[in-house]
Order: sequence, then structure tokens, then C-alpha cells
Amino acid sequence: MDQITIQSPDDMHLHVRDGAVLTSVVPHSATQFARAIIMPNLVPPVTTVKQALAYQQRIFAAVPPGVKFQPLMALYLTPTTSRNDIIEASKHPDIIGFKLYPAGATTHSEAGISSLTSIYPLLDAMQEYDIPLLCHGEVTDPATDVFDRERLFIENELLPIRQQFPALRIVLEHITTHEAVSFIEDNTQNTVATITAHHLLYNRNAIFSGGIRPHYYCLPLLKRKQHQQALITAATSGDPRFFLGTDSAPHPRHRKEATCGCAGCYTAHAAIELYAQVFDDNNALDKLDNFASKYGAAFYRLPQNTGTITLHRQQWECPKQYDFDRDKLIPVGAGDPIYWKLDVS
Ligand code: DOR
Ligand code: ZN
Repeated sequence: MDQITIQSPDDMHLHVRDGAVLTSVVPHSATQFARAIIMPNLVPPVTTVKQALAYQQRIFAAVPPGVKFQPLMALYLTPTTSRNDIIEASKHPDIIGFKLYPAGATTHSEAGISSLTSIYPLLDAMQEYDIPLLCHGEVTDPATDVFDRERLFIENELLPIRQQFPALRIVLEHITTHEAVSFIEDNTQNTVATITAHHLLYNRNAIFSGGIRPHYYCLPLLKRKQHQQALITAATSGDPRFFLGTDSAPHPRHRKEATCGCAGCYTAHAAIELYAQVFDDNNALDKLDNFASKYGAAFYRLPQNTGTITLHRQQWECPKQYDFDRDKLIPVGAGDPIYWKLDVS
């Protein structure tokens, strides 16, 4: 198969930041995806419906003329989030959920939650008002091995939540381990996971190949090859509980290539093409449409997109960098071949 047409896809987990850089990154996503769920980890965080709708307008302003793109907004759960915030959010169609960042787990997570049991009353309200919980699934204890953080989050934090709130719709974001795959498979339809292109394409060797490669540093970290294989199997299985979320996370070059570089991989420049490559490599191109375009919308109870996109088998070279306000943005796979190309009309 040298060409594939799929329903217009959705990116169910995306960072675009704010301000001048929006015009660098939003066009990449807007030309590939019909909709994206925008993460709220700005500084200060996006915690209210009003803030989210104002942010959504700034994103709209960065969409190229003639392109149709719908940003859907997640709110940031903080220790001061109230039951009323949840009720208000549940009534607004463009607010699709609350994002849980364990405090200190990742970039701009300082405003997050230190004790998950302390927010059980909020989870109860989210269950009652049927608004999804989007989890960054890692424990934050600095003594814990960084490669074990997702597994321990599932065992120690998520399983009790799952048991206590059986009707709460939970998204375990950007899963990285076979334990996360099993957790999803062992539960019902209201427990789902997003999978990034970079966790499908790479394993932890990519961070250390021939030297330290900061543009492959993200959280949760890339894991061993056996975990990568479990993610590929899940993504290409046709199980509707696994769907596309890029977690594309732009940072200026100087913040990545630094003594203490920050976490985040940028994949929005070629996201759907990178996923196509994984599905093709695993003889599963026929499963891409459901994974990229249908299962996420079904979980979030959004209408299915009506448009289509077409990809061709065509090799092109990933740009080495993009402009990013006054700095540069280095994409994942900079300078490497990409084997599929989106038709842009
Ligand atoms: O690598 C990551 N970068 N993981 C996250 O969870 C956040 C993201 C970011 O915002 O840069
Ligand atoms: Zn993210």
C-alpha cells in the first residue's frame, strides 16, 4: 500500500505553550489534525473555564487562514480546585477534562497534586458529573528509580482510584510500559490510554546513542525495547482503549541542550507521518484510522470528524530545526528520513 486515506485524526494530548511561539507550533498540528486536546501546564496553570477559553482564543489566532482546527481544553487540577470548578467545567463542551499532574512529576507540574487521596472528593465530583480525569502517571518520590515511576503510580495510586471510583472515566496519558498496557486491558471501557509517536518509534537507547541526546528526553522516559514492543502491539491491536496522543512538547533549543535540560519531545511537525511509519512497519496500516481518528473521539463522546486526510509513501528529510520565536526548536528525528508524507491541499 503506497497511499492511505483516513478520517481526519485528532491529537488527544498536545502542548502548544503560549505567546509568540504559538505561531511556530500550532500550524503543524492544525494542518494534520482536526482537533487536539491542549494541555494546561502553562505558568501560571490553566485552572478555570474562563482562562481556558481565553487560551483557546489565542490558539485559534495562530491557526493558518483557511485551516479548520478545534482546540479542546483540559483544566489543571490543583489543591485549590473546587467542586464548583468541576461542575462548571462539566457543562462546557470545549472543556473535556481535568489533568492530574503529581506535583514535581514533569515540566510545569509544581502546581499539581502532592497527595492523591486529598483530592478524592474532587474525583467523586468528576465521577458524578462525568468529566474525564487525564493522568500523568508517575510517582514523584525522588528515591524511586526513574524507570519504575509509571509502574509504581499504577500500583500505588491508580489502582485504588480505579477501585474507589468505578464510573470515573480515566485516561492514562502517554503510556510507556507493558504494565500500563496490562492495566488498561484488565479494566473496563472507561479506562483508556494515549500513546505517543516517540514511545512507539524509540526505546531508551535513543537517549544514549553515541552520546547524550537531549531531544529524546521526555517524561515518562523512553523505556526498554520490550516495553516499546508492548506499546506497538497495543496501538496496532484494534483495541479501542488505546488511541493517539502525541504529547508533542516544544521547548526552546537552549532549554533542552543545557546542563539540566527539560523534558519534552517535539513531534507535531510530522506526527501523523511518524505514526503511519510505525503502523506500516508493523503491517497494520489498516488499523491507523481507528487509532488516530475514531477511538479517541468515541471515548470523549465527540462527533466523528467528517473530513479525510491522505498520506503517501514518500521519503523526505525531517528539518533539522524550526524557528521558535527568537530561539530554535529541534524536532525528534531532526535530519532523519521520514517515510510517509501528508498531502496538503
Ligand atoms: O516530556 C514531557 N514534557 N512530559 C510531560 O509530561 C510534560 C511535557 C512538557 O510540558 O514539556
Ligand atoms: Zn504532556
